[in-house]
Amino acid sequence: MSAELILGIETSCDETAAAVVTGGGDILSSVVSSQSDLHARYGGVVPEIASRRHLELVSPVVRAALEDAHATLDDVRLVGVTQGPGLVGALLVGLSAAKALAWARGLPLVPVDHLRAHVATLYLAPDPLEPPFTCLLASGGHTMLLSVRNHAGFDILGATLDDAAGEAFDKGARLLGLGYPGGAAIDSLAAEGDPDAYSFPIARVPGLDFSFSGLKTALLYTVRGLGEDELEARRTDLAASYQRAIVGALVGRLRAAAAETGDRTIAVVGGVSANSELRTALPEARFVPLALCTDNAAMIASAARFARPLSTPDYLALDAYASV
Ligand code: KG4
Ligand code: ZN
Repeated sequence: MSAELILGIETSCDETAAAVVTGGGDILSSVVSSQSDLHARYGGVVPEIASRRHLELVSPVVRAALEDAHATLDDVRLVGVTQGPGLVGALLVGLSAAKALAWARGLPLVPVDHLRAHVATLYLAPDPLEPPFTCLLASGGHTMLLSVRNHAGFDILGATLDDAAGEAFDKGARLLGLGYPGGAAIDSLAAEGDPDAYSFPIARVPGLDFSFSGLKTALLYTVRGLGEDELEARRTDLAASYQRAIVGALVGRLRAAAAETGDRTIAVVGGVSANSELRTALPEARFVPLALCTDNAAMIASAARFARPLSTPDYLALDAYASV
């Protein structure tokens, strides 16, 4: 077994994840245990439930990641863990597990920023992207345009002023009766609908920022104006038109950002980058495989490769942070 393995741990929201990645960026294993079924009945993530579930899952998920990689803790040289942003209670479970593991084995630890980690999915083998590039990060919690000059971080060119793009998908899905999380459900429903059936407004925000809350309200009023049967009959058209509006906003701003930075390379990361219409609308952009778009721990291990590790016991006092 290679002597340079990195163990990544991610518990920022409702996925308990662990992965083993080599120093060269090869993914040896990536285990993601989603709690979304637990939270679906509440229409969103319940922080206390998430923390408790992470506590139950973190050890078996780490064990599974090592097993899948045909590795043991003896092979691990570095532990990377999400420090924030996210739900603090949820983050603390992963952070505490990582500290305990690292401390018990005398290993260095890297606290990883979840947003940098989404970008670091692009640096994984077999086809790692080299900075500089302009990147759209669109997830359930964040929507940002980033100027990426090196592997270690990025500058923020623009961000959403209200809802994140993934949040817009999730709230739209809820209005359409599709359950939580709703991005993938809208994506597949939209494939059967007419995207020109409804005209939803794309907010005109100056600069490179986004706004999605008006879109959600427009869908709310449209749905309210339909009877139950009518809603049933128009659901695919509504999904297609709503998705078209979100994708249009993302594509337009990403291209405008690239024009501003002058970068020839553009990339899209985060859960929303799994969206099929977005992937088709940006043939010139770099996307990662679907399994790496939504939250996972391979991205945490990947980001850990480009940060300065803390040695024992310097990391024991680390705290989690909720927001950027
Ligand atoms: O990156 P991620 O797993 O978690 C956060 O860091 O927030 O992103 C989750 C978000 C959810 O809002 C989910 O609805 C959205 O990504 N999503 C999608 C698709 N798959 C996941 N949105 C649109 N189309 C998809 N296929
Ligand atoms: Zn994420």
